[in-house]
Amino acid sequence: MNFELKTLAQDELSREKCDALVVLVANDAPGQTFSKGLDACSQLINLAIKSGDFEAKVGKLLSSYRPSGIAAIRMILVGAGDGSVKNVRAAVFAAIGALKGSNAVNVVVSLGSVSNQADDVVRAAIVACGDAAYVYETTKPSVTSPKLKKVVLAVVNSAHSKAGFNKGVALVNGLSLAKEWANRPANHATPTLLATAAKALKKYANIKVDVLGPKEVSKLGMGSFTSVSQGSNEPLRFIVMHYNGADKSESPTVLVGKGITFDTGGISIKPASEMDEMKFDMCGAASVLGVFRALADLRPAINVVGLIPACENMPDGRAIKPGDVVTSMSGQTIEILNTDAEGRLVLCDALTYAERFKPRAVIDVATLTGACVVALGGVRSGLFSSDSALTSALVKAGESSLDLCWHMPLDDEYAEGLKTNFADVANVAGRAGGAVTAAKFLQRFASKFPWAHLDIAGTAWKSGTAKGATGRPVALLIDYLLAQAQAKGDLARPAKTAAKKRSSTA
Ligand code: BES
Ligand code: MN
Ligand code: ZN
Repeated sequence: MNFELKTLAQDELSREKCDALVVLVANDAPGQTFSKGLDACSQLINLAIKSGDFEAKVGKLLSSYRPSGIAAIRMILVGAGDGSVKNVRAAVFAAIGALKGSNAVNVVVSLGSVSNQADDVVRAAIVACGDAAYVYETTKPSVTSPKLKKVVLAVVNSAHSKAGFNKGVALVNGLSLAKEWANRPANHATPTLLATAAKALKKYANIKVDVLGPKEVSKLGMGSFTSVSQGSNEPLRFIVMHYNGADKSESPTVLVGKGITFDTGGISIKPASEMDEMKFDMCGAASVLGVFRALADLRPAINVVGLIPACENMPDGRAIKPGDVVTSMSGQTIEILNTDAEGRLVLCDALTYAERFKPRAVIDVATLTGACVVALGGVRSGLFSSDSALTSALVKAGESSLDLCWHMPLDDEYAEGLKTNFADVANVAGRAGGAVTAAKFLQRFASKFPWAHLDIAGTAWKSGTAKGATGRPVALLIDYLLAQAQAKGDLARPAKTAAKKRSSTA
């Protein structure tokens, strides 16, 4: 998908030639804009509202074909409620969704009477276009690919909306990549293939990627990560990515993504129903790839390291058994009481590896517990951190990006159940408070830096007929990283390189 930003006055909309013209109609005070207009577009909107056929309620649609006095072949009016960021996102998503099955190739989306056309609104509109237009095709050649190729976002003053537009386009590229890899079935997204996807990002300036295999990982002493992979025929991969936007001496933010390309549960095997969804157990890893793709476009003046421990969790003659004790890279021994609590076993070694970067902060992202799905559902990701500055920065980034999270507790009492007679720590602590006890396990390996853990088990994908990856929390992480760069006072390099590539063929 290609995006363009354009200044268009209200009375110019009627004359704009395109396959489809989408006009957002908000009901805030300046929403009266159209009532005074004498152009065909304004008159059509007024008539539709007066007749009761249309109202500015969020997501309400009115489609017409070759309306008189309008140069566009199709026209869609869409209600944007009070014109808030959230409502604009919903409105654009509904309108582009309605156009998906049509023959429209070039679409103009006008923010219409939405009075706030600042960065957040413009970014949300672009992200919603990308989200609505995304179709998974890789293993479904029979799917009718959407014809939509280009979206021109029409605003009252493009100079005021440029930064939001660029952020939006970068996010669409990042989110599409994250969704794509998350959606691929496990036999099309093995640890090796995931590493290849990471290596493909080397084509962008400022991104470096190294991939370690089983031998190197064993040599590092990652006995916990290695143990999870030992029941699978697919060799593990440890992916190390670097985005360098600032001086080498500047300490990086490290992102760690859980990359279990399939989670059967191992010997503590999962029930058959919905086990297919465990192909999504690498959504944390996919989100790290997505963040790096967006960073390639945005080029903020910071350094970021991405770490992805990738492997399968399978039952086998060589697989780990309940009661086995392994030694992690930190030296702590772990009694594996449940082989299905494997995420924390791969993450703990990646956290220890992160120490070498002397990070300013480490954020791990993982589809870690079913308990987090029970606690927060699909609305907010679980945020676990004892660092108050990091917590508030991540909560704020969640709000500004509409990719919400919720701060969860980390009281030491929650760690009681992790005690065992046979190792330094057990990998499970019973059913109660499962999302918190998992975080308490990880916290033992994150004592050397400010740390936060995002449990995205409920938010990373949707089940049912809409089954598919959401790309979350790419938007949250990008807002967090951009805020870090801004706090340093020197956000972007000259826009020349940032504008290099704008298509979303991620
Ligand atoms: N990948 C799962 C967590 C998960 C389950 C995410 C369902 C989304 C939906 C994780 O590896 C797991 O199996 N966790 C166990 C932990 C338990 C054994 C302590 C769980 O949540 O049941
Ligand atoms: Mn599991
Ligand atoms: Zn898992």
